[in-house]
Amino acid sequence: MVISDEGLKNYIDGVLPLREGELGRLQEYGYKEGYPIIPKDTAALMAVLLSGEKPKNILELGTAIGFSACFMADFLAEGGRVTTVDRYPLMIEEAKKNITELGKSELIRMIEGDINEVVRSLRGEFDVIFMDGGKGQYINILPDCLRLLRKGGLLIADDILLDGEIGKDRLGIKRRNRTTWSRLRDFIDALVKNDRLETSILTIGGGMAVCRKVK
Ligand SMILES: C[S@@+](CC[C@H](N)C(=O)[O-])C[C@H]1O[C@@H](n2cnc3c(N)ncnc32)[C@H](O)[C@@H]1O
Repeated sequence: MVISDEGLKNYIDGVLPLREGELGRLQEYGYKEGYPIIPKDTAALMAVLLSGEKPKNILELGTAIGFSACFMADFLAEGGRVTTVDRYPLMIEEAKKNITELGKSELIRMIEGDINEVVRSLRGEFDVIFMDGGKGQYINILPDCLRLLRKGGLLIADDILLDGEIGKDRLGIKRRNRTTWSRLRDFIDALVKNDRLETSILTIGGGMAVCRKVK
């Protein structure tokens, strides 16, 4: 969470439940083992958003161990599918195992490859696109994500606030994070200035953009 008040952070984390059943056990395992899966507050917001959507096609960029893919699959309309992309063999292996164990293989299609290349090659329309891969790449893949998102669809981008540092001046940012800082700022600018999108920037999780393609 980018919230800096520890008490508030712990309260929100404590009050929000894990998901139910096997999915909740995967979530708990992910947190305990330090896998980079969406935190509880992000999952809670996404549940609110997705439960009103009944999406048929969801695109996820960044699978990790498959938690958010399995989580989003629960909100699909009949016959719907989550397409998820990752390139890291250890994550892919773990994700495949988890997706099978949770009985969601029919609902989730895994594409193994680099997000930047995969989004360029994808065709068709998605109702929801969840960007959760390399933050420095968001600005580069935004045009393809907008091409793939149907009008009326939701674009959700996670971890956009650089652990709360995004509001600082460039010189206040550690040298090694400056490129990501610039790219994330360009990405946020591109979202808020795009008249085809209604965009909200939220401070939950690592910071999240929630946008609807209105034109
Ligand atoms: C934050 S994790 C995804 C977490 C997952 N969405 C969840 O909440 O359960 C980011 C994932 O993106 C993958 N990733 C980062 N950059 C990538 C790229 N250029 N191509 C493919 N995968 C990438 C990493 O391997 C990692 O597994």
